[in-house]
Amino acid sequence: MTWLEVKTYEEMSKMAATIFEKQLREKPHSVLGLATGGTPIGFYKELVQCYIKGDISFEEASTFNLDEYVGVGSEEATSYHKYMQEHLFNHVNIPRENVYLPDGLATNLEKECARYEQQIEQKGGIDLQLLGIGVNGHIGFNEPGTSFQSRTHVVELADKTKQDNAKYFPEGKSVPELAITMGIETIMMAKQIVLLAFGENKIETLNRIKEQGISEDFPASCLKKHPHVTIIYGS
Ligand code: F6R
Repeated sequence: MTWLEVKTYEEMSKMAATIFEKQLREKPHSVLGLATGGTPIGFYKELVQCYIKGDISFEEASTFNLDEYVGVGSEEATSYHKYMQEHLFNHVNIPRENVYLPDGLATNLEKECARYEQQIEQKGGIDLQLLGIGVNGHIGFNEPGTSFQSRTHVVELADKTKQDNAKYFPEGKSVPELAITMGIETIMMAKQIVLLAFGENKIETLNRIKEQGISEDFPASCLKKHPHVTIIYGS
């Protein structure tokens, strides 16, 4: 596990974009795992800039997002589909058929989870996975207590996660109770992982990764078992 401390949010975003840029240059048909939330917004800006400058192309790339809310349609403003269009997909040349996110409106959620796993497998697995981290240690929406053997599944969001994400929802609209997320094992199967964390509120969480053992009570601790993880962080 490589820890890279940065001074500014911009520095973190640039550093992460450089890793993704390198990946796409070395393997244009890379399968990228992507995250949403507040943390990677600057990273996506940098990546779009790399594309505009002509440094990278997404023409052959595929992407799989970590998660999506259940009951939220892809065209709704609070969906992760919309977030990704807004921050990345609308600005780069990725073929729409190469973009994958779980369908939060699927009538059969279990089937949707199995289908998502199958799609990842059919693409040959994820080459480079981006992660953020929740203050409770969640990665994707794998809340404390999630099995390390989990694959894409439906989760009940923790109260803390709903509180933290309420800021992304308009007033009067509550955070959904359920989400579909890649499982811990799905994430761990990625060949390389980059985790971004910025801000005072994440310091204690990162210290827990450093200091504590590996336990399902603290999902991000699984990353200690992965051979190729980079954590880029600052406050
Ligand atoms: C998002 C995701 C979550 C977030 C985490 C941190 O796709 O899977 O694990 O990365 O909740 O969110 P922010 O960046 O908003 O602090």
